[in-house]
Amino acid sequence: MTRPVQFPDLDWPLMRNNITRADLDAVIEFLRRDDPILTQSREVEAFEREWSQWLGVKHSVFVNSGSSANELTMLALREKFGGGEVIVPPLCWISDIASVLFAGFTPVFADINPRTLGLDSADVIRKLTPRTRAVFITHILGYNALDDALLDACRTRGIPLIEDVCESHGATFRGRKLGTWGWASNFSFYYAHHLSTIEGGMICTDDRELYELCRLGRSHGMVRESRDDALKERYVREHADLNPAFIFAFPAHNMRSTEINAVMGRSQLPRLDANNLLRTRNLERFLARLDPRKFRTDFATEGSSNYAFTLILREPDEALRDRCMAVMSRCRVEFRRGTSGGGNQLRQPYLRRLLGDHYRQFPQTDHVHFFGFYIGNYPDLDPAKIDVLVDLLNAL
Ligand SMILES: Cc1ncc(COP(=O)(O)O)c(C=O)c1O
Repeated sequence: MTRPVQFPDLDWPLMRNNITRADLDAVIEFLRRDDPILTQSREVEAFEREWSQWLGVKHSVFVNSGSSANELTMLALREKFGGGEVIVPPLCWISDIASVLFAGFTPVFADINPRTLGLDSADVIRKLTPRTRAVFITHILGYNALDDALLDACRTRGIPLIEDVCESHGATFRGRKLGTWGWASNFSFYYAHHLSTIEGGMICTDDRELYELCRLGRSHGMVRESRDDALKERYVREHADLNPAFIFAFPAHNMRSTEINAVMGRSQLPRLDANNLLRTRNLERFLARLDPRKFRTDFATEGSSNYAFTLILREPDEALRDRCMAVMSRCRVEFRRGTSGGGNQLRQPYLRRLLGDHYRQFPQTDHVHFFGFYIGNYPDLDPAKIDVLVDLLNAL
């Protein structure tokens, strides 16, 4: 008689304890003040300043989500450069593509590089045309997606590069932080990410004009939100029939966050780097032990900063994939199939109805869609649990 296999209870969620007691106490302390301002005010400004300093950019604009950051960046791109095409990856979050569509651009898809899971530079370069208004790259699950070929191609053609760094806070390329290379960069502070303001996002740039567009765009397109006196005076002069407090330069939403979210971000920022070092140590342990004959272990990890482990089968083996899912479920290891955003966005109904069976043309993305997972990686994840899980996976 064979004995039933005993599965350990690893109790391993996608994310844990990135918001700590200290962060909650910081919020309580703030609320204890006499008559605190709760809507966007000094705490938001201070968080923007401190984030800019941490990242190494001139300007940051705090918004209510990473998706709002994406949307606002695309709105600003459209305001500044007009319509056309934006190159995007099929492996990303829906708002990387929805924002392109909302702003009236045509999304043009390139496949991914299996070692970075980000856009394949050669495929992007092949798809650049005179109508390309931007390359909108997503750094997936902490891996850097930039290389010199892509940066050179954008620079020499004068095409703005926009970085979605929502999943890669603190990751670097050539020792310099992701989010400092593009014309704009977007971050998300959703709970599952490296730093969490519960919900929240940031747009970062060195371009003063983009900064002003984002400040206006965050608040209904309202001109009084600008920090540029000359710009404000010009609008007031050219629209003498309007109350200067209510001049709306272009149609936009309200994407503001609150002081409470900013207090939480400010409380966490000082420990972000230390947390990321622990995450990197965990990822290295995970990949070093994983069996390279069954799973991909050759990711471009230099400079990476991963809040998740990538578990991607080497071959398209459905039986092995199903065994992986069964083991993780039994051990209570939470996972997401398809990795970021659920895999190939082109397979989703919102793109199928626009682009039909275009999804078939992205084999690297499709492999991750069907044979890839991500698993949580947080600072206090017990390394012993990593070893137990990897041994179980390797034995499948
Ligand atoms: C790559 C990427 N971009 C954008 C977002 C959207 O961020 P948010 O959830 O804050 O809207 C996410 C989501 O989690 C993401 O993973």
